[in-house]
Amino acid sequence: MWLMRTRVLKDLDDRSLPTALDVGCGPGLVMDLFSSMLAVKGLDIDADMVQRVKEKGKDAVLGDAEDLPFDDDSFDIAYCSFTLLWVKDPDNVIKEMARVARRFVICLAEPDYGGRICHPKEIAELDGALIDSLIAEGADPFIGRKLAHMMYDAGLEVGSGVHSGIWSPEQLKEEADAEWNSLARAVEGRVGIDALNRSRSAWDRSLRDGSLFLFNPVFYAIGRKH
Ligand SMILES: C[S@@+](CC[C@H](N)C(=O)[O-])C[C@H]1O[C@@H](n2cnc3c(N)ncnc32)[C@H](O)[C@@H]1O
Repeated sequence: MWLMRTRVLKDLDDRSLPTALDVGCGPGLVMDLFSSMLAVKGLDIDADMVQRVKEKGKDAVLGDAEDLPFDDDSFDIAYCSFTLLWVKDPDNVIKEMARVARRFVICLAEPDYGGRICHPKEIAELDGALIDSLIAEGADPFIGRKLAHMMYDAGLEVGSGVHSGIWSPEQLKEEADAEWNSLARAVEGRVGIDALNRSRSAWDRSLRDGSLFLFNPVFYAIGRKH
């Protein structure tokens, strides 16, 4: 929201709602956030996701980010979040977004697991297995660091950065179970049971004494067309 308001919308004509394409919109959570400031169309390769967006009364089409079914300069903005991580050829997706956007291409949020910080160290010992599991699923766990360069390559003027995104101790307590479950599921079969148990004990202990710390950098990049 902050990014869109302060870095993008101030530069667009405000007489009417700017138009935007949400590439890899999923169930439309980001579309919901922007619905008061943008006229957004969603696009996703998964028909269920498109259906879920439509059921909310919003506009979405089935399509592939690698070959966007729109003419050049169809939207003021083309944006995505947590999509480039999953596509086969992210460079091509950025180029496609730059083709259909008149003014801005925005990667709102893409993670980089290579910059992950977990404390205590027994939890960090699972990082390698987590990265391997993402690669096995077809993701690029290091996409965050590549955003600015990919945009530059697509001929865009780029501004980029990292979201601070550090959970407060209260948030960590609330999210801890879900976070552990998803981490344990991802590394299952990739680390030995001893390492997993060691990590679980360290997790529980540090959650109790408040020293648990988890940070996974999430990058953004804003590309402006010349
Ligand atoms: C992690 S979800 C993110 C959803 C949403 N952008 C968000 O931030 O909540 C990634 C989405 O990208 C979609 N996706 C993956 N590859 C795609 C492609 N080649 N073209 C269009 N959508 C794609 C998936 O179907 C999924 O809905």
